[in-house]
Amino acid sequence: MTEQVDKGRRQLLTAATALTGAVGAAFAAAPFLASWKPSARAKALGAPVEIDISKLETGSMLKVEWRGKPVWVVRRSQEMVGALDAVDPLLADPGSESSEQPDFARNPARALKPEYLVVLGVCTHLGCAPLSRFTPGDAELGADWPGGFYCPCHGSKFDLSGRVFKGVPAPTNLAVPPYAFVDDNHILVGADQSRAA
Ligand code: FES
Repeated sequence: MTEQVDKGRRQLLTAATALTGAVGAAFAAAPFLASWKPSARAKALGAPVEIDISKLETGSMLKVEWRGKPVWVVRRSQEMVGALDAVDPLLADPGSESSEQPDFARNPARALKPEYLVVLGVCTHLGCAPLSRFTPGDAELGADWPGGFYCPCHGSKFDLSGRVFKGVPAPTNLAVPPYAFVDDNHILVGADQSRAA
């Protein structure tokens, strides 16, 4: 009988110790998470914004806001990336020499990973939001349309890397913001590439 009581107490003590440990671990983790997540004020001032791209399907785009501006992430297919070079003759600045962007974007794909285009969704003419028109030969834009973005305000056109066409009002390519890959499924917009994992 005494042995049974002692055994019961021991089990109770073991359970209580485990619970205390779990609560302690939770309290220990809380300050870390709190310091890791930027506050609303920090975000408004331009803190990096993390984007989960794990559910972004090929040929689709997602939008987030960073520093009050729309940031677009487009997941491009191999065909989309492979067709970029052929568009060069139609473009005003195919090498992105005069555009606002990190150095890694001075090439046709304008991206850290060619599969993912990250650009500001702001027309470089007067700031309208261009529309995504990814399908080549779009009925509205003509049989020779290679796929890209179209600004409805004054007709500027951009390819699937945000590079501006010749002869349209927009003077430069869509801007590429600084960003880094945290891992395969997360992009940190506003972060320097040197901080990538
Ligand atoms: S604002 Fe886009 S073409 Fe004028």
